[in-house]
Amino acid sequence: MRLRYVPGQYQYLKKCEKTITDPEKLGYKLNKVFDNKAPIHVELGCGKGKFLRENAIKNPDINYFGFEKSVKVAYRCAKSTFENDPPNYYIVYSNGDILKEVFEEGSIDRIYLNFSDPWPKPSHYKRRLTHKNFLDIYKAVLVENGEIHMKTDNNDLFDYSIEQLKADGWEFVMITRDLHKSIYNEGNIMTEYEERFVNEGKKINKLIVRKKND
Ligand SMILES: C[S@@+](CC[C@H](N)C(=O)[O-])C[C@H]1O[C@@H](n2cnc3c(N)ncnc32)[C@H](O)[C@@H]1O
Repeated sequence: MRLRYVPGQYQYLKKCEKTITDPEKLGYKLNKVFDNKAPIHVELGCGKGKFLRENAIKNPDINYFGFEKSVKVAYRCAKSTFENDPPNYYIVYSNGDILKEVFEEGSIDRIYLNFSDPWPKPSHYKRRLTHKNFLDIYKAVLVENGEIHMKTDNNDLFDYSIEQLKADGWEFVMITRDLHKSIYNEGNIMTEYEERFVNEGKKINKLIVRKKND
């Protein structure tokens, strides 16, 4: 579904207390946003933020950042925040490819890739969030043993991601091609896309990989 452009979206994001815009211009790393040393989890392409917000509520001892590069989507995400939302999450209106610029090296515990855009044309593979260029960025910002958690309905993207991760030496922690019928579904928090796909009867792929120590 195409989202309508609403005038003043960027200005709204600038003013919204739950949103960080232009993180590369802050003059400090995002690690400093929270006044504590709690683990940091980052979702790339957080959409309208259901997964981000529900995780933050469920896990008050973890700090969350949800990156969203589309102004229209980030605006919807910001609009669905509530005054009494927990303090441990922020929406970052930005492309996730700047993680290295905005986080300290080795400081993120977990990266979530939920229903990332599949970019089916080979000429667009570089945009896939599991392309080697992105994996190099994740390696730089993840802590030792830091993890990537990936969910997708798209089998082609999933197969490609497994290949990329294997070739790049990540340690596989778990993998399933039917999350909702597997033992790994316990405690699963669904994203907006996941809810839609599950209602359509689609199977959900999930994997977790760990950064190997050098
Ligand atoms: C298919 S939607 C999935 C949204 C949400 N994760 C879910 O599962 O409901 C993918 C989202 O990722 C965003 N996105 C894609 N590439 C991105 C990137 N490099 N950095 C930040 N956001 C990105 C898109 O704008 C889009 O909103």
